[in-house]
Amino acid sequence: AYRASLLWFATRSEGVARALFEQDGLLVVGPDAQGRQVVQAIGAYSNVSRQYPQVPVQHFPGRIIAPGFIDLHIHYPQIDVIGSPASGLLPWLENYTFPEENRFSAQDHSAQAATFFVAELLRNGVTTALTFATSHPESVNALFTEAQARHMRLITGLVLMDRHAPDYLVNQGQGNVSGTEQSLRDTESLIQRWHGVDRLGYAITPRFAPTSTDAQLRGAGELAKQYGDVWIQSHVAENKDEITWARELFPASRSYLATYDDFGLMRERAIYAHCIHFDDDDRALMRDTGAAAAISPTSNLFLGSGFFDYEGADRVGYQYGLASDVGGGTSFSPFQTMLAAYYVGREGQTKPGLSLSPQHLWWQHTAGAAGALGLDGANGGPSVGNLLPGCEADFVVLNPQATPLLARKTALASNLDELLFSLIVLGDDRLVEKTVISQELSDGSAR
Ligand code: GUN
Ligand code: FE
Repeated sequence: AYRASLLWFATRSEGVARALFEQDGLLVVGPDAQGRQVVQAIGAYSNVSRQYPQVPVQHFPGRIIAPGFIDLHIHYPQIDVIGSPASGLLPWLENYTFPEENRFSAQDHSAQAATFFVAELLRNGVTTALTFATSHPESVNALFTEAQARHMRLITGLVLMDRHAPDYLVNQGQGNVSGTEQSLRDTESLIQRWHGVDRLGYAITPRFAPTSTDAQLRGAGELAKQYGDVWIQSHVAENKDEITWARELFPASRSYLATYDDFGLMRERAIYAHCIHFDDDDRALMRDTGAAAAISPTSNLFLGSGFFDYEGADRVGYQYGLASDVGGGTSFSPFQTMLAAYYVGREGQTKPGLSLSPQHLWWQHTAGAAGALGLDGANGGPSVGNLLPGCEADFVVLNPQATPLLARKTALASNLDELLFSLIVLGDDRLVEKTVISQELSDGSAR
């Protein structure tokens, strides 16, 4: 068990959940029926310690234990693309991103990048991530292998792109099998090899509609139907030029977003990055299909893509959560992403007021993101992003004294919102003293 200040959420995923805070709390962790290390109890030290008088307690004075963060959209092959200047999305892809992704055809480069990537996520307190790889199967195997070794909950998949990209990056055929067909066969064998192994999950990953043929999107949709519990990830409505291009290529669809629906790629467990330039019919389509948005504010600000419309999303009522979108995004740190989301929320609002509360920002990167992924324990499945009893025990230990300014400022906080705002505005990787992964509690590699 762990004694510290505790932060968690009152409900699993729905609504803008209320954050709970216990100044002197106790978190009790132990195996469930399947042997997963989960939260057994959480609450005030004085109460919970009486119910568990025998458990050994580790004390973290002055520290805050909070759920591990969930990154809903990030590209592991884009670590070295962060901060590359461009006038907008499409030139950025062509000049920096596509050439960089070419390096992942080499197994050793993929493995070395995967090691760095997973370590960097954990160092920043991210314990679950939905991740793009590249169009090379080697890149997918390398990332799954590394995540498995670190016991991380990680979801990734082979990038499907069979047109409108450099020859070196489009899916390659083999013998008389076309690149399109081979990419779908590779997707299926990667699902069979990795999906549901330990804490790993597979995501069918068309990069975005403009780089796939109708045949590839149709095949992806068929796989999504056949393997109903794998995830789907793509990009949509990020940038005006991208939208114009997508509309030219798929004129029969009602909108860019509707293109995905027309190919069977919208359902629960489908996560679409950006979702900026939507109308209410698009929002209703998100809601009605159970798809979710991965809001990527540092990326949208860096590439000048636009501002996610929180008011529109909440008015129509569809699911969303936060994402770094590294390397379009500028930081692995959930604190930087939450701060950028605050700026974005301010930008779009029509009603006066504070826009996004710090509790809502934090929820979007934890319990809210878990709900978007369908990892909130509904139907008895695994639950992450919270510390309610039954949740997998992935958590961060935050040190509010990590920097002189943080120490000075957090000492002045007189309520929870002030404390959380201080952490969001001033926090970065230095705030994360330790990241604990539930599986490592049973094999002894965590202390
Ligand atoms: N749209 C298609 N590919 C990408 C990508 O790699 N990053 C971002 N931000 N948008 C995309
Ligand atoms: Fe992206």
